[in-house]
Amino acid sequence: MPRNVPRNALRHEPRGRTDRHAKIKITLVSGNAMAQKLARVVAIYPGSFDPITSGHLDVIERGAHLFDRLIVAILGNESKKPLFTLEERMEMLTEALAPYPNVEVDCFEGLLAEYALRKGARGILRGIRAISDYEFELQMALMNRRLQPNLETIFLPAAEQYSFVSSRLVKEVVSLGGNIAGLVPPSVERRLRERFATATEKQNRKTK
Ligand code: PNS
Repeated sequence: MPRNVPRNALRHEPRGRTDRHAKIKITLVSGNAMAQKLARVVAIYPGSFDPITSGHLDVIERGAHLFDRLIVAILGNESKKPLFTLEERMEMLTEALAPYPNVEVDCFEGLLAEYALRKGARGILRGIRAISDYEFELQMALMNRRLQPNLETIFLPAAEQYSFVSSRLVKEVVSLGGNIAGLVPPSVERRLRERFATATEKQNRKTK
């Protein structure tokens, strides 16, 4: 038997074949089995991330343990009128995700299912905060599976301490001068404060 070949890789071979070709075939089948074992499970965690919150970070950290490679993919669609440009969001995510070696940051436009196919991803990761999230998330998961039948969506329940946190609420609270410490990474909090301070300054200058 070739070295490093798992026993069960030979299971489907006809018994008693000892000729040279049979040996070669055994090696090829074993190669496939090994390749399958070594195949890395890639998943995409898509979103607007305008900006990334501690809730997103928690899902990413847990996802990084589940998949060999996790691609955090920012939707580059400007029609959602984001507060931060795509470049700024890429910067914030890259900074926040630096400690995770198997997590990378990317951006996409168009259909998520097609992007996932291009990236060789088998899974879409999404966090669910409350049952109200589930309805829309389920629709997206089923649509994505219809578009790419091999693409599975994996839902992770949000950590309870972040189950009320959303990018939209965080922006609203900062814009009204509220405390968001711990709800976003510190560098994101700083950027949010700067962004709204500039907006308030501009507003004050206009009204003077
Ligand atoms: O952070 P969000 O806004 O909840 O993320 C939504 C996102 C980016 C996952 C979703 O809008 C999306 O996948 N958009 C890409 C376009 C697409 O594929 N639409 C069909 C989805 S069923």
